[in-house]
Amino acid sequence: MTTTMPSDTRVLRTDYQRSVAAYWNAEKDPVNIRLGEVDGFFHHHYGIGDYDPSVLEGPEETRDQRIIEEMHRLETAQADVLLDHLGAIGPDDRIQDTGSGRGGTGFMANARFGCSVDGVSISEQQVEFANAQARERGVDDKVRFHFRNMLDTGFETGSMRATWNNESTMYVDLFDLFSEHARLLEYGGRYVTITGCYNDVTGGRSKAVSRIDEHYTCNIHPRSEYFRAMSANGLVPMHVVDLTAATIPYWELRARSSVATGIEEPFLTAYKEGSFHYLLIAADRV
Ligand SMILES: C[S@@+](CC[C@H](N)C(=O)[O-])C[C@H]1O[C@@H](n2cnc3c(N)ncnc32)[C@H](O)[C@@H]1O
Repeated sequence: MTTTMPSDTRVLRTDYQRSVAAYWNAEKDPVNIRLGEVDGFFHHHYGIGDYDPSVLEGPEETRDQRIIEEMHRLETAQADVLLDHLGAIGPDDRIQDTGSGRGGTGFMANARFGCSVDGVSISEQQVEFANAQARERGVDDKVRFHFRNMLDTGFETGSMRATWNNESTMYVDLFDLFSEHARLLEYGGRYVTITGCYNDVTGGRSKAVSRIDEHYTCNIHPRSEYFRAMSANGLVPMHVVDLTAATIPYWELRARSSVATGIEEPFLTAYKEGSFHYLLIAADRV
């Protein structure tokens, strides 16, 4: 007798993964949707760079929309910095957006490099949304999103020139994750992550970091774990950029916006007290 497992049991192996998928399937937060509607690139990550203080002034009727547009600009700037670290990517290359959300960074990568992009997410809603966007943009021959687990993507070994996690490493074990990236990357291929991680020097998880974990049902890793797990999996760091100071203005603006979610204060506390960093790490596969 053969039994067929429903697709979600193959992708979502644990209760924890099912709860993360349920969170993202249900997610319709204005901080994500209204910002994405500005130009059709939907991000589920934070921003970097100084904001233009004039958005907080001027006519009240248009102030909220100006703040939204400014926050979106800073989130797009964050994705641009990630893409700046992917190295030379050509139109014939294939790259992976790992934990791809509604697809914003993947579409930006395709627009910049003309390459093929495979996005993976454990949220079926997000995959459906992003694939519909790919069709609307006329890039569905090159940009595809898949309902797959980033720890076991099923793509061919050595098939990717570059892979990245934009704020999606805090849902998984880093040793398992980097083992899968190392398998997917060709020799000399580039891996990049932008992530929040806690500071080994100040000790364990601070109260503010624990509140962030609780809010997003995630498990923020210590800074040291990234380098241990990379080194164990043939990923050799090339750039480490501390983006903490650059992300604080975004959080200050967000705290004053109509789309604040209540998590702004723990982020600002954690960054300012030094218990948490916003880090970019780029590594080569050897
Ligand atoms: C904070 S969002 C970031 C989305 C996107 N990278 C961006 O920058 O807009 C986290 C993403 O990780 C995905 N995710 C979490 N655990 C995953 C897993 N085990 N496999 C694949 N995707 C996962 C979620 O579905 C969600 O799309």
